[in-house]
Amino acid sequence: MATALCPGSFDPVTYGHIDIIERTARHFDQVIVAVIRNPQKSQSLFTLEQRQEMLHEVTAHLDNIRIEFFKGLLVDFAREQGADVIVKGLRAVSDFDYELQMAQMNQRLSGIDTYFLPTSPQYAYLSSSLVREVARFGGDVSSMVPKTVLARLADRFAENGQGGA
Ligand code: PNS
Repeated sequence: MATALCPGSFDPVTYGHIDIIERTARHFDQVIVAVIRNPQKSQSLFTLEQRQEMLHEVTAHLDNIRIEFFKGLLVDFAREQGADVIVKGLRAVSDFDYELQMAQMNQRLSGIDTYFLPTSPQYAYLSSSLVREVARFGGDVSSMVPKTVLARLADRFAENGQGGA
């Protein structure tokens, strides 16, 4: 049984992530979507539980997906879960340097390989951080995230008023 791990912050999940998760699910028996508990990035917009709920909702059509949290080293979690490979999306050359470095470090630490999937071109510009920024200031992100995420973004920013935290 081949298991792939798709790690990330998913703050929030976008159509770009879903594209990678769906394509990974076609190639592996099981896909674990691994949501990091302790992101390096300063402040999260959504709680872990909210991110998990959104991921459940947007992957409900796939029957070989598990959503899990992890903290610490990704490779320790991958080993714990018996994952065979890590799968990452590559949007552009700008992603490549850091992703290559992480893939090589992870391989060195654990022997676990990283497979890169080129992001579908229509999502090449898409990132959670840009979605957060555009949504924060009232921009239209309806083509970038599913409806459930859109609604949560609207709620989240309504809590703090326009341009809030
Ligand atoms: O969605 P993101 O924020 O780009 O995801 C980054 C993530 C979570 C995949 C990466 O930061 C990660 O793997 N963190 C876990 C800590 C770790 O293992 N660091 C060493 C990497 S070589």
